[in-house]
Amino acid sequence: MKNNVSIGLLGLGVVGSGVIKLINDYQESLVHQLDCNVKVEKVLVRNIEKARQVDVDANLLTTNPDDVLKNPEIDVIVEVMGGVEPAFQYLLEAFAEKKHVITANKDLIALHGPELEAAAKENLCDLFYEASVGGGIPLLRNITSSFVSDRIQKVMGIVNGTTNFILTKMDQEGASYVDVLKEAQELGFAEADPTADVEGLDAARKMVILTRLSFLTNVPLEDVETKGISSVDLVDIQYGKKLGYTMKLIGYANRVDNQIEVSVQPTLLANNHPLAGVHNEYNAVYVNGEAVGETMFYGPGAGSLPTATAVMSDVVSAIKNMKLGTSGKQFIETRFKKEITPIEKRTSKYYLRLHAKDEAGTFATISDLFNKLNISFDQIIQAPSNENSLAEIILVTHMASQVNFEEALTQLKALNVVEAIKSYYRVEGDA
Ligand code: HSE
Repeated sequence: MKNNVSIGLLGLGVVGSGVIKLINDYQESLVHQLDCNVKVEKVLVRNIEKARQVDVDANLLTTNPDDVLKNPEIDVIVEVMGGVEPAFQYLLEAFAEKKHVITANKDLIALHGPELEAAAKENLCDLFYEASVGGGIPLLRNITSSFVSDRIQKVMGIVNGTTNFILTKMDQEGASYVDVLKEAQELGFAEADPTADVEGLDAARKMVILTRLSFLTNVPLEDVETKGISSVDLVDIQYGKKLGYTMKLIGYANRVDNQIEVSVQPTLLANNHPLAGVHNEYNAVYVNGEAVGETMFYGPGAGSLPTATAVMSDVVSAIKNMKLGTSGKQFIETRFKKEITPIEKRTSKYYLRLHAKDEAGTFATISDLFNKLNISFDQIIQAPSNENSLAEIILVTHMASQVNFEEALTQLKALNVVEAIKSYYRVEGDA
């Protein structure tokens, strides 16, 4: 084993800068743990001249990927450039060069995780990606190692900081989605193009990773029912509040009888649910195991130094494996064939807001419709709507099958007394 372990960085943005800072600031702890120095050998950047958030020797920077990927001095590649290509090709090349790979790239792992793991295994290399979900929260390693004598049944989380920041501000300041998004962009919490975050795609990719590790089953992105927050109306957040619920963008993966349901959608969480108190840009993941019961992992889901700590935890694992001669042996083997829960077997409580004629018999008609579909109500609010002679009716159901609830929506739309279905959301827990 060499006295120095050399790292090649692909990318020097927010996370890459954090990695360099941690390696500099915590070198003594690294040496104490590993009995060797950890040094950055080369860094692939797009533009050498660009001003950086961290002091870095200009001689380390290169625009040629081969200076990193084919560099014989480099033992471990840290990929923090993001995006699917060319990162995917670079990592395949890294494995071919027998280099261990650490990545923070959730898009890449969600889409190509199994292929990358196969390439790593074939070349006896390590592949770790702790930072890909939940930023600085020690999460994936716990899911993969602390639940081995248990069976995870449910993984539910707030895995996107941007949307949690927006929903928190809407809830606490009574501001509209559009206004809060603008503020979040000005503060640098939301990207100039926020689509992947606000439409739930970022969270869906993280749920693909969480599902794979928790249930040892590959559930691809197209099987994740995904809805973002761009159409969330402040009115529903406020009615939710009155009823004892908080609106959150929830990634949900549930396994019943070996069938799996995965979704990302705005959900009204009962205020007594541990995830309801997770605010601003924070993330949290709730994991329910058959034996252990309820657990929750909480912390900063993004940011330079928090995410870099997760990257460095992987670097340390890879170096320990190098020292022990156990590299390339620690993989999460999927065991179960994918079986998606059919819609008939999916159940939830639901919140529904509709506008109906404010006249005798309206509520009886609506109630009769739900009754025939075997859906009962947990909470009801009726208020005059701003629109002429209409009533605004807000219902929270008891547990109902998704298929029956969707049938109720279809039948409601056909009723004369119903003017419009304004919104509906999944509800988790009892207020
Ligand atoms: N865009 C992501 C978020 C960054 O808002 O959570 C961390 O993956």
